[in-house]
Amino acid sequence: MTRKLAAAPEPPSDALTVAPSAWISPDARIFPSVRGTKIAIGAGSKLFEFAVIRAVGGSGDVVIGERCMINPHCVLYSGSGIEIGDDVALAPGVQIVPANHAYHRRDLPIARQGFLPSKGGVKIGDDVWVGANAVLLDGAEIGKGAVIAAGAVVTGKVPPYEIWGGVPAKKIGTRGEEAL
Ligand SMILES: CC(C)(COP(=O)(O)OP(=O)(O)OC[C@H]1O[C@@H](n2cnc3c(N)ncnc32)[C@H](O)[C@@H]1OP(=O)(O)O)[C@@H](O)C(=O)NCCC(=O)NCCS
Repeated sequence: MTRKLAAAPEPPSDALTVAPSAWISPDARIFPSVRGTKIAIGAGSKLFEFAVIRAVGGSGDVVIGERCMINPHCVLYSGSGIEIGDDVALAPGVQIVPANHAYHRRDLPIARQGFLPSKGGVKIGDDVWVGANAVLLDGAEIGKGAVIAAGAVVTGKVPPYEIWGGVPAKKIGTRGEEAL
């Protein structure tokens, strides 16, 4: 006997906005919300193959500014919200998931404990470069012009034009100091 699966609800038409000059690889995947949150991709931004943007795990929106590069295998889950400024580059494999499962109880599987309160989502200022495989956690706020080194795990605020790396990420330099 075969069981029929219920048809998945369709997202509303304003759940996803892509500027006409943005480019989305046919091999990238975007899963807009059926629960009212929004995904917006600004003018001139590019989403490369196997990048995934999924509305899930919270009530935040995903807003990507202009001329951003979201490279292959980046994963952005909306969670408590993701705000990305203009001219931001996410190197391959960057993971942005601003949501945490509640996990403290032992008598209930984590999957049934819901979520911890939001720490404000993830915010990335203009002209930021996030290196390959970096992970940005809920509450990460990356100031304008900052650089995040490959493999970093960012948990909080990174001041403008600083270079941060490591797990958890710490300051490892300042951008452009030698050139000033
Ligand atoms: C952060 C980064 C830009 C620095 O490069 P750089 O200017 O050549 O700097 P250096 O290699 O001289 O390293 C400077 C210091 O940072 C440390 N460092 C460099 N990369 C680091 C990393 N990923 N994590 C932790 N520390 C790092 C170095 O060990 C060095 O420390 P020290 O001064 O104590 O010896 C580079 O290491 C990086 O992570 N690039 C990302 C590459 C990438 O993702 N490319 C994809 C293109 S879209």
